[in-house]
Amino acid sequence: MTLPNGKTALITGITGQDGAYLARLLTDKGYAVHGIVRRASSPNTVRLETLFPDKNMRPVLHHGDMTDAGGLTRIVAEVRPDEIYNLAAMSHVQVSFDNPEYTGNVDGLGVIRILEAVRETGLAAQCRFYQASTSELYGGLNNEACNETTPFHPRSPYGIAKLYGYWATVNYREAYGMFACNGILFNHESPLRGETFVTRKITKAVAAYKNSIERKEPVDSQTAVLKLGNIDARRDWGHAADYVAGMYLMLQQPEPDDYVLATGENHSVRDFVEAAFAAAGRTIEWRGSGEAEKAFDTATGNLLVEIDPAFYRPAEVPVLLGDPSKARAKLGWQPQYTFAGLVNEMMDAA
Ligand code: NAP
Ligand code: GDD
Repeated sequence: MTLPNGKTALITGITGQDGAYLARLLTDKGYAVHGIVRRASSPNTVRLETLFPDKNMRPVLHHGDMTDAGGLTRIVAEVRPDEIYNLAAMSHVQVSFDNPEYTGNVDGLGVIRILEAVRETGLAAQCRFYQASTSELYGGLNNEACNETTPFHPRSPYGIAKLYGYWATVNYREAYGMFACNGILFNHESPLRGETFVTRKITKAVAAYKNSIERKEPVDSQTAVLKLGNIDARRDWGHAADYVAGMYLMLQQPEPDDYVLATGENHSVRDFVEAAFAAAGRTIEWRGSGEAEKAFDTATGNLLVEIDPAFYRPAEVPVLLGDPSKARAKLGWQPQYTFAGLVNEMMDAA
């Protein structure tokens, strides 16, 4: 049984992938954990229920929204947190092209709203603040490993909004002396990843195919085919459990600073597809090129993957690779998961 450590944490975006893992980590460290949730017509707390099977251990939830400054200020005044982790965001890059203004409001202005809430409640000197910044800030136009000094070139409304949030965090540190940190996190995944992100989309589809084969069910080529966009995009993929541990470490340091969290190795979407099918015991072969490229099951000849340009983005981030040297040296942060370990865990849980 964990003893209370006397500290209180407030997590925005607690119903999301990272929010749930972070809530679990902080609870296990003895924090009183509070979270902000949006009102939804159906419950959206499934990830918290998964990681907190014991209802009595679950975080205290408050209704709020990153677009509602008054509500955020009331929650901060009531909770009086020692640490705030600002994870709430419209986090889907492709969707941000369809909802650019909303994304700016939540992911950009939302950061100012919560920082102002801390100031207005008189907590600026004592409350530590983490901002969920992103490798999307870099734009990924070459294969160089990005660190904390690499110039930014965001390539989506999401990236632009996050750039505003990044600088808001730096500015409140410099202007008001707040303990405010940016974690510039490269992609991190898990069985709790949203189903429209590419890794979860792939592992769900491959697991469904594996089940059909094992049950000797007919494979319906109309519904079973996995439709993807740019399969040559490369990402530096880690596991969310490793990354929330890094967030926590940033707020335990003597001085506030900004840190990259990444594995230092990247893979293409194509590699991820192959690894997922391999974990399912299937070998695939690619035929054709460009939009006509398809993947087939070598043993059965079933069509498995095809390209759907609907998943292309108006501006792609072709390649992301991170250099986590600073986090390793100053935080002692080292990811535990390998790429294969991540794919296997997601396949087992899919
Ligand atoms: P996620 O699963 O999409 O979770 C996003 C969370 O934000 C959800 O709890 C969502 O609530 C909440 N939210 C969205 N709009 C909101 C609003 N207007 N007001 C209040 N809450 C709102 O994202 P994630 O993967 O956990 O990522 C966490 C944070 O890290 C995000 O800021 C993301 O941009 C950033 N990030 C993620 C990665 C990654 O690879 N996962 C990498 C770098 C940075 P609902 O449940 O109601 O939708
Ligand atoms: N989602 C999706 N769906 N992506 C696809 C698909 C598809 O069908 N096909 C190919 N991709 C490519 C995308 O074009 C992108 O290059 C790559 O797969 C990864 O896409 P996502 O999984 O949607 O993640 P992301 O890299 O755009 O954004 C995630 O990581 C960022 C950090 O770099 C999100 O979690 C962001 O919130 C986060 O900031």
